[in-house]
Amino acid sequence: MRRAMLAGNWKMFKNAREVDAFADDFIPLIETVHDRDILICPACIYIQRLIEAFRESPAKVGAQNVYWEDAGAYTGEISAPMLKSIGAQYAIIGHSERREYFNETNASVNKKILAVLKHGLNPIVCIGETLEERESQKAFDVIGLQIREGLTGLGIDLLQEIVIAYEPVWAIGTGKTATPDIAQEVHHYIRDVLAELFDNEYAQTIRILYGGSVKPENIDILMAQPDIDGALVGGASLDTKTFERIVKFQ
Ligand code: PGA
Repeated sequence: MRRAMLAGNWKMFKNAREVDAFADDFIPLIETVHDRDILICPACIYIQRLIEAFRESPAKVGAQNVYWEDAGAYTGEISAPMLKSIGAQYAIIGHSERREYFNETNASVNKKILAVLKHGLNPIVCIGETLEERESQKAFDVIGLQIREGLTGLGIDLLQEIVIAYEPVWAIGTGKTATPDIAQEVHHYIRDVLAELFDNEYAQTIRILYGGSVKPENIDILMAQPDIDGALVGGASLDTKTFERIVKFQ
């Protein structure tokens, strides 16, 4: 009942020529894939370019970050109304790299989520524990707090507009994927927290993606878990053939 989503997070990779080359190669590979959501989140300067390239394609385009104010003197930032005005549909919020290097907190994540929802965009809310937190048995507490604080003030009417991405920090870019059992256990827990905060029926409809070293070799087993509804893919989304295989999971 939950539509699968395969999302690529390109981070700070690809120049304009490489973005165009990706689009040219990728579009024919996925033109008949209509039963799942395919999303690419490039650097913000290429969002519009990719939206234009994907115009006739099922692939959608999102941002990797967004600021919470609509407009103002905030040099270097982009706002939800700006993204909306060029046809972007999703915005990744709270990625662990932003939490680690750019002072993103649960409080700023919360403001960003509310801002994008106000403008009709869908946030992909990233949560996940560090290695240290996992080893000291704090993973579930950290994740629970990220959800509670991140979703503060969110009305139940907008709950279905959000996508959650569980990305254990120790699995991102390290080649160490969480085992399907670990990922399933956390995804199930996330759904329990959503059920407690909102409503069990709604919690069953929220898509929860897994992220962290997703590759063609592990996508099928991850997607076979009952609470894993898709993937947020970094490195393996940069290559058309590799990402095609992930999109076409079995
Ligand atoms: P990775 O990154 O697939 O390269 O581990 C995932 C992410 O950071 O979203």
